Amino acid sequence: MLQFESVSFGYDRERRVIDDLSFTISDGESVGLIGANGAGKSTLIKLLLGLLSGEGRIFVDELPVEKRNLPEIRRRVGVLLQNSDNQMFMPTVLEDLTFGPLNYGLSRTEAERRADEVLARLGIPELKHRHNHKLSGGEKRMAALATVLAMEPDVLLLDEPTNALDPYNRRLVIRTIRSLPNTKLIASHDLDMILDTCSRVLLLSNGRLIADGPAQTVLRDRALLEANRMELPLRFSEAAD
Ligand SMILES: Nc1ncnc2c1ncn2[C@@H]1O[C@H](COP(=O)(O)OP(=O)(O)OP(=O)(O)O)[C@@H](O)[C@H]1O
Ligand SMILES: [Mg+2]
Repeated sequence: MLQFESVSFGYDRERRVIDDLSFTISDGESVGLIGANGAGKSTLIKLLLGLLSGEGRIFVDELPVEKRNLPEIRRRVGVLLQNSDNQMFMPTVLEDLTFGPLNYGLSRTEAERRADEVLARLGIPELKHRHNHKLSGGEKRMAALATVLAMEPDVLLLDEPTNALDPYNRRLVIRTIRSLPNTKLIASHDLDMILDTCSRVLLLSNGRLIADGPAQTVLRDRALLEANRMELPLRFSEAAD
């Protein structure tokens, strides 16, 4: 479903931020993307969406990520960016939620029904008529996730989905992510959430793939995590201490 073939990328000529990366994610897989600040996680997601382009080849469902395929790819791939401010651009939550579905030809009634459904699923019906620029950080995060889900994409790319969420909303988001059958790639420092939502983990360091294996194996490897500026998920560290 998602494929990287020897992909390299640098924002400038001096340094490669993604360095000869190859991997494949199959249909329906949930994969966690972990690594220290600056490892290249968000850059990888932007490459996958065609927001950036580098060397090598990237495919989404066998479509090469290149200009002519971007409209089709963006229809299939829903992305939650690390900074939600970059993706809420309409005045109200409802307008953002219906914008995409209306664009893809749904009637207003249908689009609004879908918006209500998603807001209910995420437990935030009260945000429906709120102004985006007046939302708190966590509310904005929830609303941005709702707009992604309202598009009903095949593939979900989530960059730090639990960032800024209180424990209650974090749980709700984890439960929602788990309930979705989509192919998912989830970048995060919240390794407990990755453990709850992903069966496989990719570990990046300086744009290189350091580990690719079952979440239960990679996330239990204290030495590997600490060598890459991470810590065991709380669940495992409590058991070990
Ligand atoms: N627009 C940009 N211009 C130049 N360098 C950039 C730009 N965006 C990111 N970088 C650099 O690329 C590297 C990878 O950044 P990226 O945002 O992909 O990391 P990340 O793994 O998502 O980190 P974090 O955990 O902090 O979100 C970093 O060293 C960063 O400083
Ligand atoms: Mg990032």
